[in-house]
Amino acid sequence: FNTLDDIAFAGRTALVRVDINVPMANGRVTDATRIDRILPTIRHITEAGGKVVLLAHFDRPKGQRVPEMSLSLVRPALEAALGHPVGFAEDCIGMPAKKAVAAMEAGDVLLLENTRFHAGEEKNDKMLAAGIAALGDIFVNDAFSAAHRAHASTTGVAELMENCAGRLMEAELTALEKALGTPERPVAAVVGGAKVSTKLDLLSNLIGRVDHLIIGGGMANTFLVAQGREIGTSLAERDMTDTARDIMAKASDAGCTIHLPRDIVVAREFAEGAASETLPVDQCPADTMILDAGPDTVAAIKELFAGCRTLVWNGPLGAFEIAPFDMATNAAARAAAELTEAGALISVAGGGDTVAALNKAGAAERFSYVSTAGGAFLEWLEGKTLPGVAALEV
Ligand code: 3PG
Repeated sequence: FNTLDDIAFAGRTALVRVDINVPMANGRVTDATRIDRILPTIRHITEAGGKVVLLAHFDRPKGQRVPEMSLSLVRPALEAALGHPVGFAEDCIGMPAKKAVAAMEAGDVLLLENTRFHAGEEKNDKMLAAGIAALGDIFVNDAFSAAHRAHASTTGVAELMENCAGRLMEAELTALEKALGTPERPVAAVVGGAKVSTKLDLLSNLIGRVDHLIIGGGMANTFLVAQGREIGTSLAERDMTDTARDIMAKASDAGCTIHLPRDIVVAREFAEGAASETLPVDQCPADTMILDAGPDTVAAIKELFAGCRTLVWNGPLGAFEIAPFDMATNAAARAAAELTEAGALISVAGGGDTVAALNKAGAAERFSYVSTAGGAFLEWLEGKTLPGVAALEV
C-alpha cells in the first residue's frame, strides 16, 4: 500500500479514518493514547499544506444519534493534544459536512460526527461511503484498530478513491510483521485472559508460528483440567477440556512447547486483601481458586524470555486487577521490558486488557511496540486478513 510519503497533500482534502474510540469517564477522556498516536499523520498532512477531515466511530450507537456517543465529546481532548483548533461537523455526510469542508483552509483540521450514527456504516452501505468520499480528494486510513471491521468508513470509502495508510497504520503493521510475519527466532507468545473459547483461533494460529506458548490467566485452568489436575473452585471452561487437549497435541506436532503454571497463588475469594497461599500446581485445595501463577512459574518464564528473540504478548497471566494477584503479570512484563531495553528481545503487545496490565506493571512504554488495537490485534493474531488493510491500494 501507499504511505503518506507517496502522496502530495498540498491543496488537497484528505479524509483521514482514525480510531478515537477512547475510554471516557464523567465526560473526560481517561486514556488519550489513541489520540496521541494519530497526531503524526494529522501533522504530516497539515504541514504539507493539506486539509484534514477526520472520520471516526465512537462507541456502539447502532445507527442512532445517541448524544452521549457524539464525537463532539472527544473534540476537546483532540484539540489539546494537537495544540490546534479542530472544527466539528454535526454529520459525516450531507449539508453539515459539505459546508464545514467548504469553509476549510490549508492546514485546517475538521472532525466529522460519529459515522455509526448512520446504520449504513456497519452495513458498509455504498451510498454512505459515496457521501463520505465526495467530501475529499484522498482517503488515508490510520485506524488499524478498526481495520477488522468492513464498514463504510473503513473499506467502503477506500474502494472509491485514491488511498494510503497513515503513520500509525504503517507502524502497527510493521511491528506486527516483525513479531509474527518474519520474526527473529525463537519466538515466544504469552496468551492470557479468562477464556479458551474466545481465543481458540488465536491459539491454533500461534502454535504453528511460535516456538513457545505461555498460557496464563483463567485459560490456563482449563488446560490444567485437561491434564487431569484439580483446580478447586477456579474459573475454567470444563466443556473445553477436549479442545485444550487437542491444542496441546497439535502444538506438540508443530514443535511448539506449551508452558503452563508450575506453581499457583490461591485464595478463597477474589477480593482485595484476601488471604492467599502459593502452592505447587498439583496441590490446589478443593475450596480455593487459582488467581495467579507463582514465583517458580515466573522464574521459568524469565529464563525462557532470556533465550528468545521475539515475544508477542496478549492477555494477563493472573487476576492482575487486584494485588497480590498481579505478581506474575508484573514480574514477567518487567523481565520482558528489561530484555527489550538491553536489545535482546523484540516485544510486541496488544489486545483487550493487555495494555492496561502492562501499564500497571510500568512495562508498556518499555516494550518494542504496544498496539492501540483490541479486537483487530486479536484477529491479526488469529491469522485473519483485516478488511480495512486489504482495501488499501497496493
Ligand atoms: C476498538 O475499540 O477496538 C475499535 O474502536 C473497534 O470498536 P468496535 O469493537 O466497537 O468495532
